[in-house]
Amino acid sequence: MEKKNIDWQNLGFGYMKTDKRFVSSYKDGAWDDGALIDDDMITMSECACVLQYAQTIFEGMKAYTTEDGRIVVFRPDLNAERLANSSKRMEMPVYPEDKFVEAVLKTVKANESYVPPYGSGATLYIRPYMFGINPVIGVKPADEYQFRVFTTPVGPYFKGGVKPLTIRVSDFDRAAPHGTGHIKAGLNYAMSLHAIVSAHEEGYDENMYLDAGSRTKVEETGGANFLFITKDGKVVTPKSNSILPSITRRSLMYVAKEYLGMETEEREVYLDEVKDFAECGLCGTAAVISPVGKIVDHGREICFPSGMNDMGPVTKKLYDTLTGIQMGRIEAPEGWLRTID
Ligand code: PLP
Ligand code: COI
Repeated sequence: MEKKNIDWQNLGFGYMKTDKRFVSSYKDGAWDDGALIDDDMITMSECACVLQYAQTIFEGMKAYTTEDGRIVVFRPDLNAERLANSSKRMEMPVYPEDKFVEAVLKTVKANESYVPPYGSGATLYIRPYMFGINPVIGVKPADEYQFRVFTTPVGPYFKGGVKPLTIRVSDFDRAAPHGTGHIKAGLNYAMSLHAIVSAHEEGYDENMYLDAGSRTKVEETGGANFLFITKDGKVVTPKSNSILPSITRRSLMYVAKEYLGMETEEREVYLDEVKDFAECGLCGTAAVISPVGKIVDHGREICFPSGMNDMGPVTKKLYDTLTGIQMGRIEAPEGWLRTID
């Protein structure tokens, strides 16, 4: 299979139309078999539930070319499970988890020529999503849905690659205490658009959201969970019912403990104690691990000892181990990589 002629090294995190996408429709209480199609356009009623009431959920994952030339997808079973949880909270039908994994692998296979080569620094981002498509005017869930998967080759999520980020403590909330922060619903991201635009206007890379109830505890950013490293080398991540259970974060906590022999802790993290950490990073599929150099809380600067030039040493070790597993340089735990045949 010949690769597309793409400048892989200089890709940003953007959308590029690839050849095939998967679509399956839900009607009269059942999913159809689904198929790979060429058309990237979707036609729907002006009154579709997704357009009027934002009934849409999604996932994000990546395919990698390994050192030995295989194409692998990282832990798609966990994305299948999370989409199922999102579906339940949004009153949407569950797309069967085994079929989800099958659809993802099929879509990657059909777009194999867009999977960036090993060592290019780019990956194939996979976006499964589901939305209510029939007309709905009274507030209620749709009866008809589409589940789709598309792919797009991507480079780093943050411009500047692995340069430490500057983030601010946001005055806007991302998720309500008993709301939808723990699922991957489009509405959470719509909520964050004004906050991210104003953060960028003020020169920040991202927002740190606090818990909406007390505004004292660290939650997450618009698209990634937090990891902190204590001065004695422990990995700490915030525990909250209103953040997205990041698959990258869960994988990193496992890697820290089982591969690097580090102590790990998932617990509430207060904004007041952030100044005492040695390193800070954002983790997610898109973000991988992006180091944070500075957090600004209404003019008060919290500068991490790791500085503004390089990733901190512990964050780097975690980064190297996780990406080593994803690219096949380090043996993966059983079941973490699904190879495309
Ligand atoms: N938090 C939010 C709000 C996200 O959008 C994402 C991205 O998916 C993450 C965390 C990281 O999750 P994951 O590691 O599963 O990609
Ligand atoms: C991901 O990391 O897959 C996400 O969905 C984050 C998104 C904000 C790009």
